[in-house]
Amino acid sequence: MVRWRILVGTAVAVLTAAAMGATASPASAAPTGNGDAVVPTTNVVGGTRATQGEFPFMVRLSMGCGGALYSSTIVLTAAHCVGSTGTNTSITATLGVVDLNSTSKITRKSNYVYRAPGYNGSGKDWALIRLASPVTGLATLPLNTSSTYDTGNFTIAGWGAATEGGSQQRYLLKATVPFVSDATCNSSSMYNGEIIASNEICAGFTAGGVDTCQGDSGGPMFRTGASGLVQVGIVSWGDGCARPNKPGVYTQVSYFASTIAAAATSLGG
Ligand code: ARG
Repeated sequence: MVRWRILVGTAVAVLTAAAMGATASPASAAPTGNGDAVVPTTNVVGGTRATQGEFPFMVRLSMGCGGALYSSTIVLTAAHCVGSTGTNTSITATLGVVDLNSTSKITRKSNYVYRAPGYNGSGKDWALIRLASPVTGLATLPLNTSSTYDTGNFTIAGWGAATEGGSQQRYLLKATVPFVSDATCNSSSMYNGEIIASNEICAGFTAGGVDTCQGDSGGPMFRTGASGLVQVGIVSWGDGCARPNKPGVYTQVSYFASTIAAAATSLGG
């Protein structure tokens, strides 16, 4: 059982829509709306390109992870994407674009990292990155605080690999995956007790085919809440990507929401 808690650093992020035997065939192409080159959109099973502005809170981090804009100066990501708590000016966040090569991109350096207290590689997979200066004009993604929204269908998005073992993506991909209960996810045919039910949440299809993947770590899983989108999960780990009976495993944001909010306040944002 390979429990991929890939330590980023060697970038591997992925929003996987595993190409289950699909032959890449640039049969169609979509305009990007911002003057970029036209590229095929039909080469991935399960994922499609997000449109510019569709998920304004999506953040790409230079160590090869995703993140979500929590406030104008704070990015929520995964603990396994960062080092220990303290001053950190080594991370670059890219925001405001689906195309990482766009000349319209916004970039910010980090000035501080806050990793979940007690993080030891099992559970508690969340961290905050403080940006050196605020970002304006981008909507943030509120934390889900209600179990009501810890079920249903979720959106996943990221610039990580589009197939298991594949390369990082230039354009943001998105997909929809259904909730998988802790009981099902922990069953012998799936993760056989490896899921920490209180603070991890699974999502994916029994048949596989749609998933996050290496390089998507730290990015958000979200759905519509009481008034707009709320963040339900943080991409954490999985056995490979998009394999049958191996849903993606996400940090359960509702469980940590008050702790995350308090930590963000303590960082000034
Ligand atoms: N740990 C991976 C990363 O660092 C994310 C893996 C997600 N895997 C999955 N099958 N959902 O990018």
